Amino acid sequence: MSAYIPHTPVLLKESVDYLVTDPDGIYIDATLGGGGHTAEILSRLSGKGRLFGLDQDAEAHKAAADRIGSDERFTPVSGNFGYLKTLIPPEHHGKITGILYDLGVSTHQIKEAERGFSFQNEGPLDMRMSELTGTSAHQVVNEYSYEKLRDIIFHYGEERFSREIAKEIISRRPLETTAELKDAVSSVVFGKHKVKSIARVFQGIRIEVNRELDVLKDTLNQAIELLAEDGRIVAISYHSLEDRIVKNFFKSGNESGKVEKDFYGNPLNPLKPLTRNIITPSDQEIKANPASRSAKLRVAEKIGGDQ
Ligand SMILES: C[S@@+](CC[C@H](N)C(=O)[O-])C[C@H]1O[C@@H](n2cnc3c(N)ncnc32)[C@H](O)[C@@H]1O
Repeated sequence: MSAYIPHTPVLLKESVDYLVTDPDGIYIDATLGGGGHTAEILSRLSGKGRLFGLDQDAEAHKAAADRIGSDERFTPVSGNFGYLKTLIPPEHHGKITGILYDLGVSTHQIKEAERGFSFQNEGPLDMRMSELTGTSAHQVVNEYSYEKLRDIIFHYGEERFSREIAKEIISRRPLETTAELKDAVSSVVFGKHKVKSIARVFQGIRIEVNRELDVLKDTLNQAIELLAEDGRIVAISYHSLEDRIVKNFFKSGNESGKVEKDFYGNPLNPLKPLTRNIITPSDQEIKANPASRSAKLRVAEKIGGDQ
């Protein structure tokens, strides 16, 4: 295993300010990564506070463990946050004070060529955040039908040249490396937006490989059940598809964004959004850490019994 490439936590102060409402509380960092947010959360907790740090990537756990050292308030949890309820011990269900999601991939995952996430470094077509994930980018690129590949590039990559790109990929099969995928896209997309198109295709395939949108919907549903009354979900997303899911969920408690009503017409939303306007990184943060530029922070609170 090569050294962990450091990840600069995004919107650190803003997210943890919203998350930690009680120093004695029980928290979940659902995207532990290199432990940047976790370290900050722990610094705000009392001796009684508790924090579960979840990640599906073994390399992230190793890096976080090195950073945090031994701290009995911290419990690392390996697994996919799509199974949040199963991963957190039942005695804590309904008692969690705050859950943080800092979505997407870490700097380490992006920059480590062997993981195959990046078009800037040549590596195998992989893109799996966990070695337990069944499908890799190699299968998506080499085995999916034209229609499926086109739709992934269009819907998950939000790339309008999806037809041309899917056709080109298929004509070049088999593709083995990120550089070959990049070349295939480059050969059919022209002009100044070429790099953006390549990035969008990589994003689309990554979302498919890790089932990122389905897993996000699954976890948000479970997060509501785990939270105590007045407990909070703090989510940092990095592209519009993720942000839309979070926004709708926070507004209505479901992915449609439509608030259900009871027989008497009373709204049944289990959450109350706390961020009317989304919070984004300052110019200063973006300058210091360009990877933060697309970050959007939203916060919601579980509605308590007396509201
Ligand atoms: C942006 S990084 C988090 C960085 C972290 N906040 C820090 O400051 O170091 C996102 C992390 O979430 C993990 N992750 C993404 N989706 C996940 C999922 N469905 N289940 C578990 N971990 C996930 C990734 O493996 C990655 O390590």
